[in-house]
Amino acid sequence: MTTPGQQPERTGSRSLDPHLRRYAARAGGMTASEVRALFAVASRPEVVSLAGGMPNLAALPLESLSEQVGRIIAEEGLTALQYGSAHGVPLLREQICEVMALEGISGHPDDLVVTVGSQMALDLVTRIFCDPGDIVLAEGPSYVGALGTFASYQAEVRHVVMDADGLVPEALRAALDAAKQAGRRVKFLYTIPNFNNPAGVTMAVARRAEVLDICAAHDVLVVEDNPYGLLGFDGQVYPALRSMDRDNVIYLGSFSKTFASGLRVGWALAPHAVREKLVLAAESAALCAPTLNQMVVSRYLATHDWKGQIKSFQTMYRERRDALISGLEQHMPAGCSWTNPDGGFFVWMTVPEGVDTKAMQPRAVTARVAYVPGTGFYADGFGSRQMRLSFCYPPPERISEGVRRLAGVLAQEIDLLNTFGPTTSRSLTGPQTPSPDTA
Ligand SMILES: Cc1ncc(COP(=O)(O)O)c(C=O)c1O
Repeated sequence: MTTPGQQPERTGSRSLDPHLRRYAARAGGMTASEVRALFAVASRPEVVSLAGGMPNLAALPLESLSEQVGRIIAEEGLTALQYGSAHGVPLLREQICEVMALEGISGHPDDLVVTVGSQMALDLVTRIFCDPGDIVLAEGPSYVGALGTFASYQAEVRHVVMDADGLVPEALRAALDAAKQAGRRVKFLYTIPNFNNPAGVTMAVARRAEVLDICAAHDVLVVEDNPYGLLGFDGQVYPALRSMDRDNVIYLGSFSKTFASGLRVGWALAPHAVREKLVLAAESAALCAPTLNQMVVSRYLATHDWKGQIKSFQTMYRERRDALISGLEQHMPAGCSWTNPDGGFFVWMTVPEGVDTKAMQPRAVTARVAYVPGTGFYADGFGSRQMRLSFCYPPPERISEGVRRLAGVLAQEIDLLNTFGPTTSRSLTGPQTPSPDTA
């Protein structure tokens, strides 16, 4: 009991939050990443971070961008600084349709909603489709930010395994059949078909129609999340799922990886029938995406060689991927395996049986290298033998040094394992709210 004005007694960490009793049940699904504390250490300059998913913006033409932003304010300031429609700036929506045409999509600007990054689009889609207890299917592993969103709407994630060619259709069929037999409702399949975050694999083109057919046959929507699709290292572009099925696929896109993540401009292209609900949800969440930022993106697309800029990003990230892969080949102890992505930001590594990547993480940070343990990319506790290594941010020589350090830590861990048996982390983590560095 407390009397007025008296602080509640602190009997444990839970009682530190006096509002605990007041939270909605859905807030229980919102948990901070246990590795956040380590990121404070990981962001020290002496630590090579292979953990973060931040794009490298150094190649952007900052001077001419700043001139363009100034001109937008000078010439169209009263529009740029005003509320806009929840739908998004009309010219930008047309331009986004041209961007998506590169992946074979023929979308109509009216069916497109501009969002505050594709993260908001993910939130809106989950909001309009998922009731508590509904099932969402997602690749295993999957994007930590999506898992956090699904958890916050109390949807239950069931993972579908991937192989080197992405999502395995037979496993998808089995997951859908199992849910049906259990009388459970699957609302959608969430997939990152290109250069998957975190797995680095791409869904084989030959599989795409089959995946769509399976979902259509089970009356399940497909949410295609594609922020990395234009970052194929050989300039290759895969046909979007949405280009093959306009009625059953919601496509999520973003300028975060191909232009500037801080502008927070993404979008959702919905089947026509869904569009209205999506606009209403966007309006209720944010009224509209920032008009100025949308106009900056629009002007950038109109006045810059944005395709050339994407090419230079491809080259830069390819060099970094090469540094990571050749470092792994050179230094990693026997028993480790990894994916070899042909685009995007991430490599997924599996370590020998008995090594727990979460338990090992503090030792890696002490050795001045950081990665993200695999458990955060699963909703069900898998991934303790995996880690995500990102090659997007540090320059190639730092990546090589980071891999050398990581290999040393792993070799020691394997030595300890052979001497004393397996180590385990304190708990399984499950989905967590991403920090910008983990996304
Ligand atoms: C697969 C995936 N989806 C969505 C996002 C969110 O991107 P945005 O910056 O557009 O919100 C990310 C960011 O890392 C991502 O990797």
